[in-house]
Amino acid sequence: MQVSMIAAMDKNRLIGNGPRIPWKLPADLRHFKDMTIGKPVVMGRKTFETLPKPLAKRTNIILTRNQDYEAPEGCIVSHSVEDVLKTAETLSDNNELEMMICGGAPIYEAFLPYASRLYLTQVHAAFEGDVYFPAFDIEDWNEIERIDCEKDKKNPHAYSFLFLERK
Ligand SMILES: NC(=O)c1ccc[n+]([C@@H]2O[C@H](COP(=O)([O-])OP(=O)(O)OC[C@H]3O[C@@H](n4cnc5c(N)ncnc54)[C@H](OP(=O)(O)O)[C@@H]3O)[C@@H](O)[C@H]2O)c1
Repeated sequence: MQVSMIAAMDKNRLIGNGPRIPWKLPADLRHFKDMTIGKPVVMGRKTFETLPKPLAKRTNIILTRNQDYEAPEGCIVSHSVEDVLKTAETLSDNNELEMMICGGAPIYEAFLPYASRLYLTQVHAAFEGDVYFPAFDIEDWNEIERIDCEKDKKNPHAYSFLFLERK
């Protein structure tokens, strides 16, 4: 099983403002969908609760310490990182399974040591907010792909899609 993390961050590693994503970037929402479809997605309870409904065509795994947490049908509730890793192993019997860690901050922090791939969207601007992606050493990662995109009518900020693999 492969543990991958997917996140969009501004130039200061900001990922959120209260419950919201600080920018509007439809191209990134599409990218998120393309990269996660068909794969298990792991989210903290707060991120999950910002969604109108569970992410379709993906097994939603929600992390909470609340033993009584009730998630919608089809979602899996987990109470620790170890629990998530064990659960993910049962979702596929081949080693190709890619589990996508989708945030927020404590979830990225907890899974970073296990992650071998990072799909990062860098938004080339600075925003107001209070939720950050954890600091990580770029020297530990090889840049496999980088797509730089200019702003356009629908996407008001320049951004880059990065694909990194652990060295
Ligand atoms: N830009 C991006 O790519 C991106 C991606 C995702 C989220 N976000 C943003 O991030 C913000 C939400 O994230 P957040 O960091 O505030 O919260 P979060 O990580 O989504 O959820 C935090 C909750 O997860 C549970 N949790 C955390 N660590 C756990 C552990 N080790 N074991 C079991 N449960 C654990 C706890 O739930 P309980 O309190 O229920 O115990 C905790 O309160 C929003 O602003 C959202 O828009 C941005």
